[in-house]
Amino acid sequence: MVHNLGKADWTDRDRIQGIIDSYSLRYGESFWAALIGLIGEQRRESIADFGCGPGLFLVDAAHRFSARRLFGLDESKEMLEQAKTFIRARTAIKSYELTVINFDAATIPIRPKSIDLAFCGFMLHEVASPQGFVDQVSGTLRTGGVCAVHDFVSRDEETFVRKMTEQGMAPERARLRFPHMCKHSLDDIRMFMEAAGLQDVQSSAVNDIRGLAVGLMK
Ligand SMILES: C[S@@+](CC[C@H](N)C(=O)[O-])C[C@H]1O[C@@H](n2cnc3c(N)ncnc32)[C@H](O)[C@@H]1O
Repeated sequence: MVHNLGKADWTDRDRIQGIIDSYSLRYGESFWAALIGLIGEQRRESIADFGCGPGLFLVDAAHRFSARRLFGLDESKEMLEQAKTFIRARTAIKSYELTVINFDAATIPIRPKSIDLAFCGFMLHEVASPQGFVDQVSGTLRTGGVCAVHDFVSRDEETFVRKMTEQGMAPERARLRFPHMCKHSLDDIRMFMEAAGLQDVQSSAVNDIRGLAVGLMK
């Protein structure tokens, strides 16, 4: 079996802790400024995070967008256990569903046209069929709902290696992983969204190596 170098063992406790510890770096002010700049601050009642990991985006988004319902989907049940702990401890939301699913093998079990904000962070490069995945995610959006994808998008290996090294990754590991983690450019992600029928597709750089793309369901 060829190992997917864009993907780690997300059942491993140390890796889960690493994702928790790096959250504030990955979802800092530049991320929120880019997201709010693209989608505004209006209320989003139902928020779904595809590949939610430990659920910290769901927690923050619930507060920022005054959500009432949360959906977290991930193939790692260990990540979802952590998400449950954070949602319970850090929000007052009682209506949440956490679903174990492998997006490469199963159909997304969310009612069509029911979601106001569908989010995917640092995950699109891990799925086998990004177009099929974005098609399915788009199908969950109600009219006026938005899809937002945040991922590594650098086309520049040296900058990627430098940034990841600053964050503690060994340079040779960063170099090896560059084509897998920066698998899609922002243009690619916008194209997936347009092909899925989303409209007003826009994007923004978050920093030298990360970007955010959004599309609207009309
Ligand atoms: C890099 S982590 C990002 C977690 C979270 N979105 C964040 O930004 O903190 C990627 C997550 O996607 C999940 N994932 C990767 N491939 C998946 C797949 N094919 N189906 C479902 N979940 C997947 C992993 O289990 C992991 O929790």
